[in-house]
Parts: sequence; structure tokens; C-alpha cells
Amino acid sequence: NIWRHQSSVHVQEKLLKQTLDIRQVKIVSGDADSDRLQNYELGLQVSQYLNKKLDRGHHTLAITGGTTMLDIAKNMQESLANGRDFTVVAARGGLGDQLAAQANTISDILAQRLHGRNMVLYTPEKLSQETYRLLLMEPSIQQTLQELKRANILLFSVGDAKIMAERREVDLDEAELIAKAGAVGEAFGCFFDADGKIVYRMPRIGFQIEDLASVAHPILVAGGSSKAKAIAAFAKLAPKQLVLITDHGAANQVLNGE
Ligand code: F6P
Repeated sequence: NIWRHQSSVHVQEKLLKQTLDIRQVKIVSGDADSDRLQNYELGLQVSQYLNKKLDRGHHTLAITGGTTMLDIAKNMQESLANGRDFTVVAARGGLGDQLAAQANTISDILAQRLHGRNMVLYTPEKLSQETYRLLLMEPSIQQTLQELKRANILLFSVGDAKIMAERREVDLDEAELIAKAGAVGEAFGCFFDADGKIVYRMPRIGFQIEDLASVAHPILVAGGSSKAKAIAAFAKLAPKQLVLITDHGAANQVLNGE
């Protein structure tokens, strides 16, 4: 029956929040690995959470790339914009990723849904030190980076280390290094092990993992049992105000290793 189901979800959410030692956990049904459609539910939960927490007025929302964020942006409830004014900023450059899953594309979709302003960050994913230094001096890039520093909301996902190393097309020796170091997850271009220790970092312009500490509402949206290890490890390196919005597939795997 529905009531019993609801109460058992609440128990599981509380347990997971305590286990990961973070601010709040929301669990939707299903497993994103086998059913990407349920990302609609994740989007709904993100909208509801923000609707409860955000005052009226102006907010700066930063968002990363990936298929989860694409679904979240598409499914964000437009009513969140009532009485609020949003600036949406791409947290990473992202050129090199598939166009649809780039942070710039996603922030544009989200800005439209929230009737807000969009700020892009056009930089390549792979950068030489020299180009990196020069790009940082570009006024348009500086402007976006300044806005990123003002972000009070951050929406992002994490990925399994091996899957992300492949997707990012890292060099063979980099891939070997990442695997040898025991990386289990990736976020913001940083690969981390099961203890939440960063073992490899891809130098890229944009939001850095250390910037998380100063964001009031960092929201990790990650579903599917394949992301369980990455979620559990990420919680160890994340600040305590982290909020996790996930699904049963990932939650069961984190809690029971099922
Ligand atoms: O590539 C950007 C990124 O946000 C990564 O940092 C993260 O690991 C990944 O996307 C998650 O991708 P997906 O939502 O497609 O699993």
C-alpha cells in the first residue's frame, strides 16, 4: 500500500543521509541504468526541493554537463521561476563533449525554462598550460568565471570513473594512471578513489571541485546502480551542505551493496 511504501522511502532517505553524512537525500523509484525516462522524476524532485529552499529574488544557478543534467534541465518546472529571477551559468567549458550533453547547451535549455539569463563558457576540454593561461585572461571568460563564483545553487552529476575516462577519451597512460590509483568516480574533471581522495585532475577552466564549499545549495543528481560507488565516494569529499537526489537503484546499492 502507498502509505507503507512512502514511509519506507522516508526511512531509506534518512538512513542514506546519515550514512553519507550530508544535508538531505531524496529518492525516486526505479533505476536510471535501465530506465532513463525516470529522470523526469529526478527533475521534479530538484524543482520541488529548490522551490522549498529558495527565497524570492535573484539567484545564480550553475550547471554541469552530462545526460543527467540534460534531463534535469528539460524537466525543470517552470513554476520555479515565479517570483524569482535566475542567472544560469555553464559550470564547465565542455567543447569536445557531445553537443547535446555540453554544459553550455544545458544551461541554455535551463535558462529558457526558468525565463532567466544564460551565461556560457566556451573553452575546449583539453587544454595546454599555455592556452589555459591565455584563455583565463579573456574578458568574456573572466565575466563568466566571476558569475560562477557568485553561484548559490549548483546542479551536477557524478560518473563512474571507468565510464567517464572512456567518454573523456583520456590518453592511454592517463587511463592507466586513473585505474591504478583506484579511482571509482569523476566529477568536475576530478577522478577520486573510494575514500574520496582526488587521484587525478584534468586541468580545465570553470567550476573547480574546491569551489563547492562556498555554494549554499550544491545538489548532486545521480541515479542508477552503476553510480553507487561514485556517489558514496563523492560524499566523503563533499561539504556537509550537499543534497543528493537519487533513485532506488543507486540508493539500494549504496546502502546494502545489493
Ligand atoms: O561531463 C560532465 C559530467 O558532469 C561529469 O563530471 C560527470 O561525471 C558526468 O557528466 C555525468 O554524466 P551522466 O549524467 O551522463 O552520467
